[in-house]
Parts: sequence; structure tokens; C-alpha cells
Amino acid sequence: MGKDLLGLQSVPAQTLRELLGATRDISGRTDLGESLRGRVIANLFFEDSTRTRTSFSVASMRLGAGVVDLLGGISSVSKGETLIDTARNVEAMGVAAFVVRAKQAGSSAMIAGAVRPPVINAGDGRHEHPTQGLLDTYTLAEAKGRLEDFDLAGLKVAIVGDIASSRVARSAMAAFTTLGADVVCAGPPGLAPKSFESLGVKVVSSLDEVLGAMDAVMMLRIQFERHGEGKTPAPAGAEAPRASPIASVREYRAFYALTPERAARMKKGAIVMHPGPINRGIELDEAVADGPRSVIMRQVTNGVLVRMAVLRWCLGEA
Ligand code: CP
Repeated sequence: MGKDLLGLQSVPAQTLRELLGATRDISGRTDLGESLRGRVIANLFFEDSTRTRTSFSVASMRLGAGVVDLLGGISSVSKGETLIDTARNVEAMGVAAFVVRAKQAGSSAMIAGAVRPPVINAGDGRHEHPTQGLLDTYTLAEAKGRLEDFDLAGLKVAIVGDIASSRVARSAMAAFTTLGADVVCAGPPGLAPKSFESLGVKVVSSLDEVLGAMDAVMMLRIQFERHGEGKTPAPAGAEAPRASPIASVREYRAFYALTPERAARMKKGAIVMHPGPINRGIELDEAVADGPRSVIMRQVTNGVLVRMAVLRWCLGEA
């Protein structure tokens, strides 16, 4: 009934270029308002979201589709119903595609194996967030004049901070490297472990050593809420141990925050990216987030175009 988009880690360059090219072409089109008329897109969001859910809704509406939102806290998942039963019930109502966000890695793939309509992964735990990776790639290509062929060869990109917790980092590094960019991950070893080098990127602990050579720097939020996930629960009455990979936020900032002083040492024309949500004053300072190098709002705007292209691709309209 269509194609799923569950991740970018095994997507070939040709498919990435097809999706990014469709995104570029959509930006100039005014004839897509009836493209998905009569179809309904189901947003199943079992984890919070501002950008992704709204962006998928706007994209669906711009294509003429209807949207239903099923949110974790107010669905029957909170009464013990499984994600698969939930998806099957929504499928039985006649939806055309699912957009799924969940805390557990592999949730979207599990649902895709149980329903017939296409499933788009909107973020599964720490695993993947493919439409975010596509919009990051599109925004990088746009800023660097690579929209013609999406060839990123010769570009150096740093992804900075809590790489280990980040599905955005995993999807972005897959797309960036597949299209030819050199990717460096920078962070303390607890947040940016050397094992990420198996994904074709370089890992360093000193941001300052690499910053001046970068064409783009993607800052990541520290995902405090994911630290300690998967640990054995504390016995009743005992305080749960807090596993923090950083000693203190102040110390983290001293080495990894993108402050105006650090931003001033970046290459001429180098851009600052962030997938959001930003924790201003921790990984990224106000003056940089809203400064001339920032393409953060451009990422958000491009996200709608990317999701329009992905919805049409998954539903066989492109
Ligand atoms: N970038 C991103 O996934 O943001 P939300 O969590 O707000 O959707």
C-alpha cells in the first residue's frame, strides 16, 4: 500500500537525492492542494513533540489530507493497550498512513510490520528520526549552494553534545555521510563515545580543536530525561540512582557550549543548526541561536516541505 520511512541508516544516496529533490521541487509548486484529498493521516504520538507533529499536520493539510491526532497521554495505551492494537484499531478506521513517535527504539518498525498503510518514523527512542535528518540535510545543502545535486563532498559538519541519546544525530550522520560530507562528533566520552566511529564519523572530545574548520555545527540538547533509562529500578522506598554522564552543567558549558566567543572563531559563512528543542544557556547561547549564522528557523520551515515530499513518496504520489 506504499513505502515506509523508518530510518536513514540504510537508505542509498539515490533515494536520499530523490526525496531531497522532491522537497526542492515542492517549494515552487502551487498545485498540490488536492494531492492527498480524501485521505487521512494518523499522527500516533506516544512521546511529546512541538515541531514534528505540527509540521506533519501542516504538511498533510497543505496536500489536502485530513489529520487525526492520537496522543499517548489521552489514548487507551495508558490503560494497557499495546501500540500494535492501537495502530490496528486506527487502521480499521481507514487511514492512509501513520506517523509514529514513541519512546522505544524499533516501535515504528514493529507497527509497520503489523499494519498495511505506510508508516513514517517520527522519532523512536534514541534510534532514528529520519524526517529530521532529511530536513537537516536539505537545510545544509540550501545554505551551502548544493540544492542542484545534493552532493555534500568537501563539507565538514560537527555534531556537538549528547550524541549517545540522539536519534537526530544518528539520522543526520547517516544522510550527511552518505551524501559525502565529513562528520565529526564532539562531546565528553559519556555523551559522545568513540564507538560512533563505526558509523563512519570521527569522534573527538575537544570542540575547540575542530570548530574553526567546520562549515556547519549542529548543537544538541543534553537529554537528561534519557540518562539512566534501562537501568534496574531501585527497590521500593530507595531513591533511584541518577546516572549522569556529565559532572556539572557549568563544566559542560565551559567545553562544549556554543557561546558568542566560540561562534566568533567559526569559519566565514559557517552555519549553526539545532533540531530543537533548544535549552538556551546550556548548549547554545541566545546571541548565537538568534544570530546571523543560525539557520534554526530555516530548518523548521524546510521541515514542512520535507514532510510533504515524504508523505507523497510514501503514498506513491511522487
Ligand atoms: N526536532 C524535534 O523532533 O522536535 P520535537 O520533539 O518538538 O518534535
